[in-house]
Amino acid sequence: MSRADSTVATTGAPDAAGAPGVTGIADTTDVADATWVSPLPDVLAAESARTWDSAVHAPAVPDELRPPQSASVGERLSALHRRHLLRERRAQEFVADTMNARTGLPIADNARVVRFIGGLLSQERLLVVSVVLANALAATAGLLVPRLLGELVDSTVADVEAGRVDAALAGANSAALVVAGLVVVQSAFTFAAKMSSTVLGQSVLATAREYIVHAILRLPLSRVESASSGDLVTRVTRDVGTMSESVRWALPEAIIASITVVLTLVAMVSNSPLLSLPSIVLMSLALFQVRRYLGRAPKGYLTEGGTYSRINTTLTETVEGARTVEALGLTHHRLRRGDEDIEVSGQAERYTMTLRNLLFAVMDIAFSLPRVLVLLLGAIGYAQGWATLGQITTAILYTEALWGPFDMLVHTVDRVQVGIASTTRLLGIATVPPDREAGADRPTGPELVGTDLRYAYRAGHDVLHGIDLDLSTGERLAIVGPSGSGKSTLGRLLSGIHGPRTGSVTVGGVELTSLPLDQLRTEVALVTQEHHVFIGSVRDNVVLAREGSTDDEVREALRAVDALDWVERLPEGLDTKLGSGHQALTPGRAQQIALARLILADPHTIVLDEATSLIDPRTARHLEGSMNALLTGRTVVAIAHRLHTAHDADRIAVVIDGRVAELGSHDELVEQEGEYAALWRAWTS
Ligand SMILES: Nc1ncnc2c1ncn2[C@@H]1O[C@H](COP(=O)(O)OP(=O)(O)OP(=O)(O)O)[C@@H](O)[C@H]1O
Ligand SMILES: [Mg+2]
Repeated sequence: MSRADSTVATTGAPDAAGAPGVTGIADTTDVADATWVSPLPDVLAAESARTWDSAVHAPAVPDELRPPQSASVGERLSALHRRHLLRERRAQEFVADTMNARTGLPIADNARVVRFIGGLLSQERLLVVSVVLANALAATAGLLVPRLLGELVDSTVADVEAGRVDAALAGANSAALVVAGLVVVQSAFTFAAKMSSTVLGQSVLATAREYIVHAILRLPLSRVESASSGDLVTRVTRDVGTMSESVRWALPEAIIASITVVLTLVAMVSNSPLLSLPSIVLMSLALFQVRRYLGRAPKGYLTEGGTYSRINTTLTETVEGARTVEALGLTHHRLRRGDEDIEVSGQAERYTMTLRNLLFAVMDIAFSLPRVLVLLLGAIGYAQGWATLGQITTAILYTEALWGPFDMLVHTVDRVQVGIASTTRLLGIATVPPDREAGADRPTGPELVGTDLRYAYRAGHDVLHGIDLDLSTGERLAIVGPSGSGKSTLGRLLSGIHGPRTGSVTVGGVELTSLPLDQLRTEVALVTQEHHVFIGSVRDNVVLAREGSTDDEVREALRAVDALDWVERLPEGLDTKLGSGHQALTPGRAQQIALARLILADPHTIVLDEATSLIDPRTARHLEGSMNALLTGRTVVAIAHRLHTAHDADRIAVVIDGRVAELGSHDELVEQEGEYAALWRAWTS
């Protein structure tokens, strides 16, 4: 087997004879899981599992979080209390850690969330005013009814005592008419209030969503790479969902409920200060508990969100690496990891549940007691002549009317809390500083020049150590070197994906990272073996590179990469939907779509990072034609494992340990008798 063949085989493509070995992993992809057998010898898989087993790590859920089952009531209670405090501390630590995250995605601080919500509401001032006004009017109309009924009681008592039964009946009749009128007025205002609050919720939500999508799209690529995809997915799914529930429903309802509560209290006091005392005292007690709750709940909810991210991250990793997990016998590790994540999440959920239970217990007491107390006080007051029957009736009705909105207020404030926690996580995405700032200078030519390039993924650990590289227009430069020497990193710097730590990469005299992204794409493009087909039509997928392209241009690009034939045979041609759940594409065809996209973007320089090495040789050979169409007439930097690519290049750069060790044509380097010559001899022998 020649060197070239073995490279292909180890990258996962089955060769014609279906040789055993690592290739087998790719071969069995379609076989049902139940019959899947690890290609590793049992001894190796067992050894791998043992290595993981022997790793000591702290338990995900410490024993203190599991209080003793058999102990006295007192001991159990104090253990439960200690557990609650421990959960609280874990939540605080979690939030402190995430706030200071150096990698991954941070969360925003409270001031930013307040500014964000304030900003959203101030854009919709008119709607906010109409929500407040319509609700205030609806509440006032509703509050007049108990007052009217109270006065009716007093006047009826007076009339009956004076023997004026007819007058009492007439009074009752006219009061009934007024009450009916008020109910109609209240309904009309409530309708207007609900409508404006729904419109407010939806339009605030739309603006918030746009802002978040914008923040995600401008995340520096380097930061996206270092963050876990599970976290990003959780934020854009669960957190957006929670935020939208809170914006659409909880926030407007909280506004409505607080207006109603305040107006009811005012009405209550104006009816009888004495009879409003029980409600005011107990509500203050409840508010005290609500404040305690609000002081703790946000951290609890943030931790909860974080634990969902962790569950998703583990799941994604397990699914993506399923074959490796099975091959290395790590199934039970992944299962345990999943169980631990769920346990940790359960603990976080229980913490917020305990907080809610404590809150609602106090709320229930504060809810029921005032009714009894108003009756008692009313009875005493009536006997002593401090209160009339009418005032007592009104006070009871107000007490009943108060607790509905108050309960709603607490409930919605709780949901708003959850929404704020999610918003904090979402806004965290926006706090990641951009890694580039577009300048006004535009390139004067296509020459790509890299000077003194250094780059570190982790501070203090450079993987490139001062690389200088000039590309002449139209040349083909091959980059070769051992694995991990920094070839791909150099490729990313040369294509402007990362900015260098020191030095610069310029095109026509302008730094790549100071070009707007859409312009950058038309100067240099990086082609890797990762190609992505987005959900959308074939046309959408191709025009991504240059919006506004005509169908003829799209067809031309597809023809250039040999894809037009099969695209036209698809059920709906250019309009056929691609992506998961729609028309499936083979890796070769997906790569062709990616190449057509580049033809349309038309960059003068292309950096290839082993673009076809994961594709099986037959498809790769077929793709070569498409690839050549893309490369003709452009400057090409090809990062290559196969030395025949290097042999055909104008110049070859040998990168070793982050430095260019040799640079020259194939013949020059072979003559130099250095690293390249040794590699070439090994390759061809
Ligand atoms: N995202 C990353 N985070 C941290 N370190 C990284 C990252 N990507 C690469 N490295 C490290 O940087 C060094 C250079 O890696 P790079 O991928 O550029 O090498 P390479 O020459 O392309 O290797 P290969 O031939 O295996 O593709 C390696 O030590 C690698 O471990
Ligand atoms: Mg690489």
